Amino acid sequence: MPPGLRLFLLLAPLIPAAGAGADIASGEALYAPCIACHGANGEGNADLASPAIAGQSEDYLVRQLKNFKRGIRGASPDDQSGALMRSMAATLADDAAIADVAAFVASLDAPVPEATLSGDVENGAKLYVSRCGACHAGKGEGNDALYAPRLVGLRDSYIVRQVRSFRTGTRGAHADDRYGRQMAIMAKVVTDKELNDIVAFLNELAKQ
Ligand code: HEC
Ligand code: HEC
Repeated sequence: MPPGLRLFLLLAPLIPAAGAGADIASGEALYAPCIACHGANGEGNADLASPAIAGQSEDYLVRQLKNFKRGIRGASPDDQSGALMRSMAATLADDAAIADVAAFVASLDAPVPEATLSGDVENGAKLYVSRCGACHAGKGEGNDALYAPRLVGLRDSYIVRQVRSFRTGTRGAHADDRYGRQMAIMAKVVTDKELNDIVAFLNELAKQ
């Protein structure tokens, strides 16, 4: 074992886990105004263009809420749904409130979304493995080490809209959006037809 790794394993238990000190009960209270759009179980609401947020990691949720609050996400003039969420993120008083609400949302189970798009699942599986899975993980569960969120559990229409937003610079173009910029590069390597096949595959994964 390389000495660096041995040292890491030795110290790993001393490194505080994300969200250490976050208060889930306070987060549940802070979540009350979010229910109108994201639902009681964080399942989202297609009519309000509000994504499922249940099952996302605390790290990802904290980063997105901070990005909305600071205008790093949702500030593009073309981003109407992002603007809606920006005004909500502004109501979370401080980093502690963000950490608490994120801890509560992360404790909810990811939903199984209803499929609204159909595509070639087999081709989608191949494309997913070669172009998305390295970051978003083999079963679409996400990978915090690479800052990549969970994709399984998100509605197909939301995934398509976000990838297009990354492609056009509506999301992920801000100079301080380090991880959004990484995804923006990837959004350009798929056509709309390919994306459709990928989401068809993700819909299948969600049922498993
Ligand atoms: C008025 C409706 C509305 C309310 C209320 C609302 N949101 Fe949102 N939220 C949205 C919309 C719409 C989006 C998608 C923005 C986009 O398209 O980029 C979103 C996105 C998010 C995201 C990013 C999800 C992702 O996968 O990247 C998080 C996290 C989030 N909301 C958390 C919250 C929390 C926590 C609250 C309560 C404090 C809240 N929202 C209240 C509408 C709302
Ligand atoms: C190099 C790593 C990487 C690859 C490859 C990658 N992504 Fe991402 N993706 C990310 C990161 C990092 C984020 C988070 C960006 C942020 O913080 O806003 C992300 C975010 C997303 C989101 C937004 C999710 C949400 O909840 O709002 C979607 C949708 C997405 N990726 C789809 C894809 C698809 C489809 C592919 C394959 C075509 C893909 N990604 C390939 C790194 C990657």
